[in-house]
Amino acid sequence: MKKILLYVGLTLGVMTNVNAQSNAKTEKKIDEIINQLTLKEKVAMCHAQSKFSSPGIPRLGIPELWMSDGPHGVRGEINWDDWGYANWTNDSITAFPALTCLAATFNPELSHEYGVAIGEEARFRKKDVLLGPGVNIYRTPLNGRNFEYMGEDPYLASVMVVPYIKGVQENGVAACVKHYALNNQEEWRGHINVNLSDRALYEIYLPAFKAAVEKGHVWSIMGAYNQVRGEHCCHSDLLLNKILKGKWNFDGAVITDWGGTHDTKQAAFNGLDIEMGTWTNGLTASAKFAYDNYFLADPFLKLIQDGEIDESVVDDKVRRILRLMYRTNMNLNRSLGRMNNVEHTQAARKVAADGIVLLKNKNGFFPINPDTNIKIAVIGENATRSMTVGGGSSELKAKYEISPLEGIKNRFKNATILHSIGYASGPSAYGREIPSKLNADSLVKAAVNVASKADVVLFIGGLNKNHFQDCEGGDRKHFELPFGQNELIDKLLKVNSNLGLVLVSGNAVEMPWLSQVKGLMQSWYNGSEAGNALADVISGDVNPSGKLPFSYPVKLNDNAAHYFGELSYPGDSINQYYKEDILVGYRWHDTKKIKPLFAFGYGLSYTDFKISDLNTDKQIYFKGDKIKVSCMLANTGKIKGSEVVQVYIGKPKSKVDRALKELKGFKKVSLDPGKEEQVEIEISVDDLAFYDESISDWNLEKGTYIIYIGNSSDNIIQKQKINIK
Ligand code: BGC
Repeated sequence: MKKILLYVGLTLGVMTNVNAQSNAKTEKKIDEIINQLTLKEKVAMCHAQSKFSSPGIPRLGIPELWMSDGPHGVRGEINWDDWGYANWTNDSITAFPALTCLAATFNPELSHEYGVAIGEEARFRKKDVLLGPGVNIYRTPLNGRNFEYMGEDPYLASVMVVPYIKGVQENGVAACVKHYALNNQEEWRGHINVNLSDRALYEIYLPAFKAAVEKGHVWSIMGAYNQVRGEHCCHSDLLLNKILKGKWNFDGAVITDWGGTHDTKQAAFNGLDIEMGTWTNGLTASAKFAYDNYFLADPFLKLIQDGEIDESVVDDKVRRILRLMYRTNMNLNRSLGRMNNVEHTQAARKVAADGIVLLKNKNGFFPINPDTNIKIAVIGENATRSMTVGGGSSELKAKYEISPLEGIKNRFKNATILHSIGYASGPSAYGREIPSKLNADSLVKAAVNVASKADVVLFIGGLNKNHFQDCEGGDRKHFELPFGQNELIDKLLKVNSNLGLVLVSGNAVEMPWLSQVKGLMQSWYNGSEAGNALADVISGDVNPSGKLPFSYPVKLNDNAAHYFGELSYPGDSINQYYKEDILVGYRWHDTKKIKPLFAFGYGLSYTDFKISDLNTDKQIYFKGDKIKVSCMLANTGKIKGSEVVQVYIGKPKSKVDRALKELKGFKKVSLDPGKEEQVEIEISVDDLAFYDESISDWNLEKGTYIIYIGNSSDNIIQKQKINIK
């Protein structure tokens, strides 16, 4: 895109165009600015002035910093001082698929395309910081916000988050990776104190954040609401000072989650830079400017004036904020952005179609020939329900949203499409459930009647963005499908066994009907192009290639967090203990031999693939080496398709308990029918280290390791031993 130089009325002398990355010249400029600021002005920069902005310094022409949710699209404008929507008419955007879908693509290039597109929209909307992506690890299928994250595997999330960040930041808009860290449930999220081992912290819950910082060079990071080891994450000495700014050399700004600050001294000393969202009575009832009451406002100022906090503490925060500004709103070289353009629509559709996962396909139930003139009964509320509305802070005001029913109608022009919702969940409202007023029995009756008349039934159900579903601020109460869907599916099957199911959700659900349905697809909250993308896959225009980014347990207790009972999840309201330790997701299923319903990395295609000839370039490796793993991949079916070759590595006879195997590399490869290709995947030997608590550092054990290659965590085709000396 053409770069256009903009004039901005800065009064600090000639501003040079700075690169995205910080450099010595910029640092010097920052010092000069800090020298000109009064203490009051410095403190003012460290906290909000409205729901989504923090102040600049008007007399020096330093601009305000504007932020916006969220990970899947740029949120509609919010009022200055309350959570209401501002009702602007120019803020409808492209809604991109939820990050579970992006993770399911196993396609880092698409992640970059996604990042560029959402970054351009943020820039066009004049946002400096985009509050996303989220990389909290999928620990329990009940977590209401899993749909905003990238699944259960630290390696997958690390690989997928980096290009997203780079894409956003290419626009001079900061990504803000969140929620750092351990916000893995919504229940008691504001205060629950997470207790876990250092190994679980470093090996499972931190790697995606580390990759965001070290490889993605993310410019801002959002602290989490919860506590770890007795300190709130937004001012945790361990997470912010020691790890983020210490070990990882993060040079950007730490922003709180909204209302995540609880203490002035901790906020001052423990690495927080910008305080947002602390409750205020705002501009309405307060006698003085309410934001001055923030922890990092007047109370902070007073402690500095009284000499209890050294001025260098606020200087460091301001330096980071100014650095963030030079990368964003003081970067005169950044592009202008664009919104709702065809490239963004295409990116949204591509990601959505690439991320849909085919889970079951008995006798080739899918694809359904789009030219057919049969009768298709589309049953289920999710066939027509908006999924960009609801869910909490990731809620979007989409310019348009193609529902699954519309997508199917558009593509299956010759078919007769019948529709009946079958069940109803009620409108979505944040923080409360509003039951539907529709009569459940009549809905079931109507749906059964429609199904009985059709040649094919497509049940499109799952979860939605209501409270206690896939929604911020609460966890799901049950593992099973809500709103009577299981009973409804049973009834539909009785009148028409030619039934395929599409689950729209961001979480695994129990599937008592699985053996009886002919086809099953996992779709996600797929944004503006949801229905078109679904129709692409159902019709066979797109051959499915998505893979599950998390395991589906048969029953809730098969999930590691739940296996250990209430203290493990959700805790006793004060503390919780991650008793499963490092054995999260497939690591648990594999190691404990608990068969999942569908495994991490699993997903079918309309064609067949064969993986063979596993090889490594050497047998013996040393620290710092790269392992070149190769195999042959052949498309043995009749149509073009893509397969994700997955490399897992395990260490038998380790001095510590290890998972049987861990994902260490993958590649998505597209192949024409009858073709084969050699696939090479490079793995760093150093990535085989475990976090050794006895030395508080990573430790690369010597000895034999096993390389596993396959197309899901439970479908390993070949194994091979290597040696680390
Ligand atoms: C959420 C964040 C979000 C913020 C601002 C919080 O409730 O946890 O993810 O960015 O609100 O809307």
